[in-house]
Amino acid sequence: MPRRWWSLTNPAYVLPDGLKGIGAIFKAIGHGDISHELQEILALRTSQINGCSACVHAHNQSLVKAGESVERIAAVAAWREAPFYTDAERAALELTEAVTRLSDRSGEAVSETNVFGVIEVTNAMLPLLRRSPAGRIVNVSSERGSIGRALNQDHPLWPRLNLAYCSAKTALNMITVSYAKELWHTPIKVNAVDPGWVRTDINQGAGIKSAEQGAAPILVMAFLDADGPTAAFVQDEGPLPW
Ligand SMILES: NC(=O)c1ccc[n+]([C@@H]2O[C@H](COP(=O)([O-])OP(=O)(O)OC[C@H]3O[C@@H](n4cnc5c(N)ncnc54)[C@H](OP(=O)(O)O)[C@@H]3O)[C@@H](O)[C@H]2O)c1
Repeated sequence: MPRRWWSLTNPAYVLPDGLKGIGAIFKAIGHGDISHELQEILALRTSQINGCSACVHAHNQSLVKAGESVERIAAVAAWREAPFYTDAERAALELTEAVTRLSDRSGEAVSETNVFGVIEVTNAMLPLLRRSPAGRIVNVSSERGSIGRALNQDHPLWPRLNLAYCSAKTALNMITVSYAKELWHTPIKVNAVDPGWVRTDINQGAGIKSAEQGAAPILVMAFLDADGPTAAFVQDEGPLPW
């Protein structure tokens, strides 16, 4: 059964101070020259890209209330090929998409760190690891890189999109499997671990686990016995789908 928009826990509702900030931004935008209807069309397009079903619902309702036509509301997702928008509206939609998709284009640094950096460090360490009686490689991945999770509509992560981060972690998972296969007949074990949602700089301290709790599943894989797994993808709660 897919999760419904009304069952999602929006962080903005959990953190009232955050909601005040969002309200202030909307108030400031409202003081500009853009009509209420166009603001709602732009907000609808942003919400579609962000995969926020509650926001899509709210902006749809608001546009209906403002008297917008069904054609104009329904075609927002495909506005480039639709005849219902003025040149000014098209320019605003283009700008809105560019700003909303900024994070999709900041992927180079993310991949440098999570993909190419890992390969370089692994290759540099391999000669030493091969001389060790129990070499262990633990790649700190994320369930955001799991394609199985990404396609599970019942999972709370279903609406969350982050092209750069998620695809870099997916690549890291394949790097894990590739090294595990290369080293299959050696004592070296190569595994990927999701530390869980940990309170660190990456989420501005919003995580629910302490650094110690996040490190726990990583340490388990770092100190595996000789009969432990290789080419596994795990988190505290158990194995993850690739
Ligand atoms: N926190 C979570 O909820 C969570 C969930 C799933 C997976 N993870 C993964 O866990 C790992 C650790 O993240 P974190 O939560 O501890 O985040 P963090 O607090 O932001 O720490 C990231 C670390 O990576 C370093 N770093 C970033 N870019 C680098 C680069 N180009 N070269 C070398 N070092 C670089 C940073 O160094 P500086 O301090 O010098 O900038 C920092 O030490 C990451 O792979 C993250 O994707 C975290």
